[in-house]
Amino acid sequence: MSGSPGASERLFARARTLMPGGVSSPVRAFGSVGGTPRYFSRGEGGVAWDEDGRRYVDFCMAWGPLILGHAHPVVIDAVMKAARDGLAFGTCHRHELTLADLVLEAFAAERVRFVVSGTEAVMTALRIARSHTGRKRTLKFSGCFHGHADAMLVKAGSGVVTLGLADSEGVNASIAQDTVVAPLGDLEALEAVFAEHGPTLAAAIVEPLPANNGLLVQEVRWLERLRALATQHGAVLIFDEVINGFRFGFHGYGQVVGVKPDLTTLGKIIGGGLPVGAIVGKGELLDRLAPAGKTYQAGTMAGNPVALASGIATLSLLKTGEPYEVLEKLGAELDAQLAKKKDLPFQVKRVGSLFWPYFDRSGPVPTQAERITPVAVNGFKSRYQGWLERGVYLPPSAYEVGFLSSAHTTEHVTALVDALTGN
Ligand SMILES: Cc1ncc(COP(=O)(O)O)c(C=O)c1O
Repeated sequence: MSGSPGASERLFARARTLMPGGVSSPVRAFGSVGGTPRYFSRGEGGVAWDEDGRRYVDFCMAWGPLILGHAHPVVIDAVMKAARDGLAFGTCHRHELTLADLVLEAFAAERVRFVVSGTEAVMTALRIARSHTGRKRTLKFSGCFHGHADAMLVKAGSGVVTLGLADSEGVNASIAQDTVVAPLGDLEALEAVFAEHGPTLAAAIVEPLPANNGLLVQEVRWLERLRALATQHGAVLIFDEVINGFRFGFHGYGQVVGVKPDLTTLGKIIGGGLPVGAIVGKGELLDRLAPAGKTYQAGTMAGNPVALASGIATLSLLKTGEPYEVLEKLGAELDAQLAKKKDLPFQVKRVGSLFWPYFDRSGPVPTQAERITPVAVNGFKSRYQGWLERGVYLPPSAYEVGFLSSAHTTEHVTALVDALTGN
């Protein structure tokens, strides 16, 4: 595969005159890997095609939602049927109850509110925490990304790091001041931040497996201590599982590590490729939301029937456990193929179906965002166009993780390994 992207290049040139940076979401602009973003026109299973008809084995998978791969027939059928019945009602419908049952079972939770995005889920969870505690502040951890609500654009994840912005313009200092930031995985810093701010914290929010700024695997005892300190200080513990949720089994990452948050925020997989977000947790907290309580949240498109039908079909398939068996085999295959290679210039951190190629071997793969080296970032960047040329599509940033889907095959894994190793 060689030559210029042709149609993608032309479309992107025009898009830049129509939309800021030519995109609907910043990382898509390829700013940190160079070159032109590929305009995808079709996806099927583990593969997608661009406007020039070039085929890519896709390890971005729409940044996580497509755990079953592109255009899974069962999901598409469910979406088509729901669409024929009406795109939106703006009133109650059965799909809400079906998806609620699935999600509450998976998270052993009492209530769920459906929203449209992960960002909204986080905004709402934080508002619940403030209303519940009567406090203002939120503790977040450096490198964790929680969407683009003002209060969360402080030491956020990949998109912001990729653009070289520590914060965002347009975020009022008064709002940023209510966000306290601590490093991930540092027990001493955790004790210190609770000692100083504990009585004013409404919430502590964390991605239990941070996956937006590399794959920063945390020790369980650090998460356990966070749980204990939040309880001790009366702060609501929020696990942001927008990426993690339903990724490692029909449950959250909280269940994997045996730590239970008060609230969990969901997105991505719960909508199976259509826009669904959710907040799940205890009735005592969720019932603060209007109209049960006085904490306001609403949405014209919240609980949209077509989007929920996609989520129901996706979660129903996941609940059988079969996709997770496939994902486990593919992950093991990736490890096995990499293990056969000698003198690799990179390491791969893999947890289940998430993997992060890290192009620096001078030390272990970091578990804190601040420790990601320029060597690793440049190593990724300098190889990215070559991977595209070979028909392997990874998320276009050194700070992003790759996603396996149950529609990938051993051959797709081999294509990935060959691309990464330059074979
Ligand atoms: C952990 C986490 N939280 C929140 C969000 C924001 O979700 P959305 O993009 O649906 O608004 C993301 C998106 O990548 C995420 O990974």
